[in-house]
Amino acid sequence: MRIAIGNVIGQTELAELRTALDNVRFLDGRATAGYAAREVKDNRQADPLDRKAAALRALVAEKMLSNELFRLAARPKQLSPILFSRYEPGRKYGSHVDDAIMGGMRADVSFTLFLSDPGSYDGGELVIETPAGDEAIKLEAGSMIVYPATSLHHVAEITRGERLAAVGWARSFIRDEAKRELLFDLDTARSRLFARKGKSEDYDLLSKSSANLLRMWAED
Ligand code: NI
Repeated sequence: MRIAIGNVIGQTELAELRTALDNVRFLDGRATAGYAAREVKDNRQADPLDRKAAALRALVAEKMLSNELFRLAARPKQLSPILFSRYEPGRKYGSHVDDAIMGGMRADVSFTLFLSDPGSYDGGELVIETPAGDEAIKLEAGSMIVYPATSLHHVAEITRGERLAAVGWARSFIRDEAKRELLFDLDTARSRLFARKGKSEDYDLLSKSSANLLRMWAED
């Protein structure tokens, strides 16, 4: 399941984040790519050793983990450190699949939080490659796309402006994406039922199924 989540970060905090990132050192992104991805990766990333970036990574992680939709869609157990990436004209990131294990953590879910106003740059879509064709995604600043880490994907070349984004991965309590989607649908239906009818017997039965499926499938 791929899901777009709006307003993960409000406009004021987003402006502060962008300003703060102007003072962070950015390095060649190839340093953190595997031997094959290195051939196609052409961006810059915030220096992981730059201490000014640490607070910004923590802010983004906190925003994500407090987002109800993200919690329901990804069932995150743990997040990787957030990476801030910057693409200027001519830069892109060719087709690749993200590493399965990152710093000892299994990566089940990938996410990109867009930090630049989409009107301020051309190109730079995140393109998820599916058997049904490519899906190009470019969201409002402060919005995020969450997708299975199993997908081939690329970032289209930037032809104008600058694309700033925060990317990262989650280890999910639910490894299998089909099971994550099933639980997401069930919990969405359950909360809609609650909104309409309150705590009914039907709501309780759906809650029981949801909780027990989670118990059956969760890897803690
Ligand atoms: Ni990637």
